[in-house]
Amino acid sequence: MPLTRIATLLKTAAPEESITVKGWVRTRRDSKSGFSFIELNDGSCMGNLQFIVDADVEGYAETIKQVTTGASVAITGIVKESPGKGQRIEVHATSLEVIGLADPAEFPLQKKGHGFEFLREIAHLRPRTNSFGAVARVRNCISRSIHNFFQSRGFLYINTPIITTSDCEGAGEMFQVTTLDLARLASLQTEIDWKQDFFGKPASLTVSGQLEAETYATSVGDCYTFGPTFRAENSNTTRHLAEFWMVEPEMPFYELSDNMDLAESFIKTMINDVLKQCPEDMEFFNKRIDRTVLETLENIRSNEFIRLTYSDAVDLLTNSGQKFEYPVEWGSDLQSEHERWLTEEHFKQPVILHDYPRTIKPFYMRCNDDGKTVRAMDVLVPRVGEIIGGSQREERLDVLLSRIEECGMEPEEYWWYIDLRKFGTVPHSGFGLGLERAVQLITGMTNIRDVIPFPRTPNHAEF
Ligand code: 4AD
Ligand code: MG
Repeated sequence: MPLTRIATLLKTAAPEESITVKGWVRTRRDSKSGFSFIELNDGSCMGNLQFIVDADVEGYAETIKQVTTGASVAITGIVKESPGKGQRIEVHATSLEVIGLADPAEFPLQKKGHGFEFLREIAHLRPRTNSFGAVARVRNCISRSIHNFFQSRGFLYINTPIITTSDCEGAGEMFQVTTLDLARLASLQTEIDWKQDFFGKPASLTVSGQLEAETYATSVGDCYTFGPTFRAENSNTTRHLAEFWMVEPEMPFYELSDNMDLAESFIKTMINDVLKQCPEDMEFFNKRIDRTVLETLENIRSNEFIRLTYSDAVDLLTNSGQKFEYPVEWGSDLQSEHERWLTEEHFKQPVILHDYPRTIKPFYMRCNDDGKTVRAMDVLVPRVGEIIGGSQREERLDVLLSRIEECGMEPEEYWWYIDLRKFGTVPHSGFGLGLERAVQLITGMTNIRDVIPFPRTPNHAEF
């Protein structure tokens, strides 16, 4: 018989019902008058289920000492209304079995309140803590919300490749994939013959599924790709990972303003879904992680996002009287301090910046008639900064070719992408949202390493 999990029992179990629960011990307290309290968690929710084990339960004397924090147990008992505060029910145990021991001398999560830095070193055990259990549940809820959002609008879920031979963002931040024997090649000190490599040419892990998604958007219509994405950026910040998850919708016949509308309602829907489906976890984040997170989310979901051109943003920043570490100048990329000033200090709500200088954006963005800017958009949100990057795509063959050249890329390598502009080209747009940044926004967790189960960052791929 499948077990009923604690999340369900806490809501629905009725007094005098007999139940069996399996999970991990959070705490055990022994009373002087010969019985014990056990707080059990099975990961299904934040709450623990409290058990009372009397000394006359079979095997009590031998087993109760093994019921230590972290041990796994199976307990059967009768549900009672709880006289205690903070819980509706408790369970009076009729049998107790220890499944797996956790030696208190060794188990690293003996006490509550470990710092996140320490927990990062035990990424295999940190999901046993309240914070990481809550992050896992909210992350799951966001993933479900993402699929629901697009599926309910008729978008097709497309799986784009993880190994690729094109560099979508043109930033050269790709991890190479090779079966060549690098040590041998180094000792030979000869030129590398890529024909000898697995794919017969250099290949890498993808930095974005966009280019491939465009082939489907311009064939089957609205679609989205959602998968792991890799960037060999050497940035040790609280917002960058070397491996992260990105959802990228791509829509034919969308212009930039349609793209913005979709991005805005997408973010609002994710927030609505989490607030509705994970109220207990969200209360925890608001109490323990960031006391303003609920207020911030409420503000985001109930107001229209500000839309502002890059040029207007540069004017605002230069006239702000604010001292920034990096100067603001038309034509240079905005730093996170600038983005955060706009969304946190000035507007105090999400901002969609659009029409960026073309010199700082990738080759595929649609050029504006001014000859200087492209139809790019970045969605900035408080505390996280850039959460979405997107654009209208260049659909004109001649302009695309000249942009490819301008960016120093080889047109032959993008022949299939160029073909889309030769055969039935259409205006189209899309964007990418970093899943981890969305989890950061919604939970209030400050470090991106704490919202993905096994973070990959420079010098760190332990687990
Ligand atoms: O702005 P980016 O680089 O845009 C693209 O890759 C486009 N091809 C997307 C598209 O139009 N289909 O990345 C999109 C988002 C960023 O806004 C950010 O949320 C996230 O991906 N992101 C990262 N998240 C974690 N670690 C990193 N190193 C990230 N780089 C980008
Ligand atoms: Mg970007």
